[in-house]
Amino acid sequence: MGALDGRVAIITGAGRGLGREHALLFAREGARVVVNDLGGANDGTGTDLTPAQQVVEEIKVLGGEAIVNGDDIADWQGAQRLINAAIETFGDLDILVNNAGILRDRVLVNMIEAEWDDVIRVHLKGHFAPTRWAAAYWREQHKAGLGRPRNLVHTSSTSGLFANPGQSNYGAAKTGIAAFSQIVAKELIRYDVKSNTVAPGARTRLTLATPGLEEIMKPAEGTFDQWDPANVSPLVAYLASASCKFTGETFFVQGGNVTLIESWSRGDSVDRDSIWSVDELAEALAPLART
Ligand SMILES: NC(=O)c1ccc[n+]([C@@H]2O[C@H](COP(=O)([O-])OP(=O)(O)OC[C@H]3O[C@@H](n4cnc5c(N)ncnc54)[C@H](O)[C@@H]3O)[C@@H](O)[C@H]2O)c1
Repeated sequence: MGALDGRVAIITGAGRGLGREHALLFAREGARVVVNDLGGANDGTGTDLTPAQQVVEEIKVLGGEAIVNGDDIADWQGAQRLINAAIETFGDLDILVNNAGILRDRVLVNMIEAEWDDVIRVHLKGHFAPTRWAAAYWREQHKAGLGRPRNLVHTSSTSGLFANPGQSNYGAAKTGIAAFSQIVAKELIRYDVKSNTVAPGARTRLTLATPGLEEIMKPAEGTFDQWDPANVSPLVAYLASASCKFTGETFFVQGGNVTLIESWSRGDSVDRDSIWSVDELAEALAPLART
């Protein structure tokens, strides 16, 4: 028996990289899968449905069920069509994995408006729009007495959570996604929907484009391949299962390591029952400075 037997899943950006591995594992674990991917380049330009079609073919060879969807996940109507594709083809939707993403790395002083806008759009709106349509469907089902465990899995990055220079657009979007997931978790628990986030580390087209990383990620003969993107998928499948015990959490995952990420928390403080002058505040805060 598979961990996802009988469940219907959408995986965005599943034509290659991490999404492809998630789709193949989900199918092996018994899910029927909508393989979404518009098939663009690393920077989001262009379209090509071939990679998504190949994943669907691979799933069919495994004896599984899958369909292709080529909608842009950051397009409002496209995201609605994506959710409807699962419901119309497989009769329901249990799981949405928001995974699709692009990169436009640049140091802040050289970044142009389109590099900011496109990255924020694909990641943040590309998480919001499909989640919004899935949540509306799940609320409707719940109100009709057809509620049951449903799962959202989002994709963040240590580039944002731990502030990587050269990626202010991507990092802001990826940290926003982790916060989005926490808020969604609180809003949707009443409909039996869980929302969690992964911050993966793996060898894919995206990371291979980062200078210096290709050498670090090269698999060594006869040893566990720490950077194989397939290593990330079991956690995503668990978070997508009806038995998932978590909601509102973010997990780092790479190789055999899975680490819970601590959220923002309050630190040291100064406090009094009257307004501070600027000078008084400067003096009181001085011992708290980290640099
Ligand atoms: N690989 C890593 O180590 C790593 C680290 C941190 C975060 N991530 C995140 O993991 C996710 C998957 O990335 P990957 O490394 O597998 O990269 P990838 O480039 O191999 O796969 C991303 C896929 O998303 C698709 N896509 C892009 N924009 C889309 C859109 N608007 N609509 C539909 N599909 C779209 C692309 O066509 C591509 O196939 C991304 O969100 C990425 O930011 C990856």
